[in-house]
Amino acid sequence: MAVRGLLLYSAFALAFVGIGVLSYDRPTARGSYFVSLPETFDSTSPQQVHISLVGNDKMRISWITEDQTPSTVQYGTSPGKYESSATGNSSSYKYLLYKSGEIHDVVIGPLKPNTVYYYLCGVGSAPEYSFKTPPAQFPINFAVVGDLGQTEWTNSTLQHMAKSNYDMLLLPGDLSYADTVQSLWDSFGRMVEPLASQMPWMVTQGNHEVEKIPIIHSHSFTSYNARWHMPFEESGSGSNLFYSFEVAGVHVIMLGSYTDFDPSSAQYKWLQSDLQKVDRVKTPWLVVLIHAPWYNSNTAHQGERESIDMKAAMEELLYEARVDLVFAGHVHAYERFARVYKEQANNCGPVHITIGDGGNREGLANDYIDPQPKISVFREASFGHGQFEVVNATYARWAWHRNDDNESVMADSVWLTSLASDPT
Ligand SMILES: *[C@@H]1O[C@H](CO)[C@@H](O)[C@H](O)[C@H]1NC(C)=O
Ligand SMILES: *[C@@H]1O[C@H](CO)[C@@H](O)[C@H](O)[C@H]1NC(C)=O
Ligand SMILES: *[C@@H]1O[C@H](CO)[C@@H](O)[C@H](O)[C@H]1NC(C)=O
Ligand SMILES: *[C@@H]1O[C@H](CO)[C@@H](O)[C@H](O)[C@H]1NC(C)=O
Ligand SMILES: [Fe+2]
Repeated sequence: MAVRGLLLYSAFALAFVGIGVLSYDRPTARGSYFVSLPETFDSTSPQQVHISLVGNDKMRISWITEDQTPSTVQYGTSPGKYESSATGNSSSYKYLLYKSGEIHDVVIGPLKPNTVYYYLCGVGSAPEYSFKTPPAQFPINFAVVGDLGQTEWTNSTLQHMAKSNYDMLLLPGDLSYADTVQSLWDSFGRMVEPLASQMPWMVTQGNHEVEKIPIIHSHSFTSYNARWHMPFEESGSGSNLFYSFEVAGVHVIMLGSYTDFDPSSAQYKWLQSDLQKVDRVKTPWLVVLIHAPWYNSNTAHQGERESIDMKAAMEELLYEARVDLVFAGHVHAYERFARVYKEQANNCGPVHITIGDGGNREGLANDYIDPQPKISVFREASFGHGQFEVVNATYARWAWHRNDDNESVMADSVWLTSLASDPT
């Protein structure tokens, strides 16, 4: 789409997306990106490659081609030698006047842990990609970042994460900020490919993924569900909007802030049964991701039902299950709380962390409520990302890295003890 057309279309689309979002003043962000296809690309070349963990030893490979091609992945543990192959399927979707390319979805495995695999997206296609599977045991290192977008700040964040040697990325919602302009989903796919094709990216959705326009496009999450298929079937969930998985002794639950969460909802019932299945001997660490934070002392995004009502419905379930950590996004800043339950410090409650500072074009949320509540330990409105390094069954280190100009600087860090190892 021509740039002018794209801008007009954005303005039109944003008018709808803005509905229901509280407004506040944000400083200007750095410039936005549009990552185009290289001119040499042909219509069967793979693009927007990203991978996600399926079960404990399989990987979903996702990529897009302009034309229909076979959905086959060839792979192996040495470059140029592909002893194995797997075939999946492809689909496409329509959104107003836009028609997506063929979105290929192939699950490969079983795979060995902590091993580099080389793969091709399509029989005999180029280029060769590679990824590393996560370890089967501790230690494991997660990168955590929300509200990523596609600006120069996003680029800094991605570059810093790339240097951090992470095993898996966890993203608590708001990916592309396409906001109904579907070509921006393609641009986002190209922007994250260098990282997302090498390590599993496990994501949940935010408000920017809803993309429902009254009357004109009445379905929610059309693009998100088509492009970012997460392993919900394997965790007994009926929806791509909430699921769980286990990796190296960590049970991760991805919740959906923008789908029903009241006690009669499918999500609530699924969460109840998923928590019952958690074995803290096998997975001593229990982590939850949501988009809209339940604890937040920034003036941005106060009073939204996705925060208040979801917390009222589900906080007790997480508390009773002794969840260690809750990561959220949505507020474009960083904030770490003490262990909390029902607004009070509580040694059996989860640590809540807002990490919505990936680098999106809306800028930072600079204004905080004064005085700082006692339960809020550290808060700062800067772009950056987090690292959650689980050392063993008992100890993990959380560190927040700020994008200082273009340097990554560790600005907050804390050692955490798993609640599974605490008999109280
Ligand atoms: C693709 O394959 C998956 C798993 O086999 C299946 O659930 C899904 O319905 C298939 N999609 C299409 C469009 O055939
Ligand atoms: C991100 O920054 C790097 C280094 O500054 C640059 O080489 C790269 O082209 C940038 N990425 C995009 C998508 O512009
Ligand atoms: C876990 O890691 C911590 C920090 O490195 C260390 O002090 C402790 O001894 C380890 N515990 C076990 C059981 O390995
Ligand atoms: C940081 O990177 C941006 C984008 O690549 C560049 O425009 C800027 O000059 C850099 N700033 C510093 C202080 O290096
Ligand atoms: Fe958001």
